[in-house]
Amino acid sequence: MINLNSLTFIVGDRKDIPEKYQDTIIGMIRNFDSERSPFEPHSIEFYRNYWKTPRPLEREAISVYGFNKSKEPIGFGHAFWNIKYDNLDHGSYQIYVVPEERRKGYGTEIMRKLFSVIPPQIKILVTSALGESVGELFLQKFQKESCFEELYRAADLSEFNIDEIKAINIKEKQRISDLGYKIVELESLDYSNKFDEEKYVRMIERIWNDMPREEMSFGEDVITPDRYQSLVEYNLQKGDRNFGYAIAVKETNEPVGHTRVLYNKYRPSLVEQDDTGVVREHRGKGFGLTLKYKVLEKILVELNAKYWYTGNAGSNEHMIRINEKLKHKVVGKKIFYELKRDEWELI
Ligand SMILES: CC(C)(COP(=O)(O)OP(=O)(O)OC[C@H]1O[C@@H](n2cnc3c(N)ncnc32)[C@H](O)[C@@H]1OP(=O)(O)O)[C@@H](O)C(=O)NCCC(=O)NCCS
Repeated sequence: MINLNSLTFIVGDRKDIPEKYQDTIIGMIRNFDSERSPFEPHSIEFYRNYWKTPRPLEREAISVYGFNKSKEPIGFGHAFWNIKYDNLDHGSYQIYVVPEERRKGYGTEIMRKLFSVIPPQIKILVTSALGESVGELFLQKFQKESCFEELYRAADLSEFNIDEIKAINIKEKQRISDLGYKIVELESLDYSNKFDEEKYVRMIERIWNDMPREEMSFGEDVITPDRYQSLVEYNLQKGDRNFGYAIAVKETNEPVGHTRVLYNKYRPSLVEQDDTGVVREHRGKGFGLTLKYKVLEKILVELNAKYWYTGNAGSNEHMIRINEKLKHKVVGKKIFYELKRDEWELI
């Protein structure tokens, strides 16, 4: 431990945390997530499992854990950055202080400590807080302008009538078939048996790179088959069921759009909408809605969830219109802030 002002720190990785502190720190990570989201957090078992799950190899991380004079952990700072594929000069960070120890300058002290151990290749760091939370007030002290806003919306699944959704899907199947397309069911990693894997992953890369980034400085994502596979595997290890549908050209089996949802066994009341997207040349045919009605039917039939939630860039008008048709209501927003190295070195 290194002495610095009133806190002492452990700097390193999860393995550097003595076992006697692990339960407290795992509980803090859960509290951090619950303060940054309008939704019920995962159960504590999720976080115990997360603590043991190895990170994807493409990412590196460092943590600082702050201890008060009584040697109790009172907060943490985490930073993550890519070491492969793309955006190698960008990272993200998180700061948390337990409620009883706030407004004593510890958040700032943890932040300074964390920033002092960020490797030199990282030039920009991003983080986010729930709109109108204490986290936002804290971040605004260091960075006035936000760079991105994500609106969270959720639909109460008890408001849907399954027979109506099934009827819509029968009509949609015929409609897209008349246009020369088909719908293909997806579960976990089975896209590699159903499509040319390269083409499926290329489609996802195009969809990701077409999402609005507002003022966020992150550059284009590079998605390879290995990378996508490891991202899906990581979700599975964290307890998610990962499923959805793709739309493909009937004649060539070329995938042109997809939707996927995540249903975590440690939080069965919520189903999370992951990607939905259609590549540009095949837009304007209503496929976004087709895909989401299809996945909604499966959610209603197979899951026990109460709410279906999603997050969209505030500027993503097309997706927002689709979600509003699907009874999604705004439940909160997440505000992103970026700091450049010359800015954080002055803190
Ligand atoms: C955000 C958080 C880390 C701040 O911790 P903290 O120890 O209270 O932070 P500090 O005491 O260093 O506060 C620094 C400045 O932030 C601002 N600030 C922090 N909390 C505030 C509040 N409740 N109201 C108004 N301003 C606040 C103030 O400008 C404060 O400076 P001041 O006390 O001199 O006025 C803590 O509230 C927290 O863990 N929140 C939940 C997680 C989160 O949202 N993290 C941030 C995004 S990753």
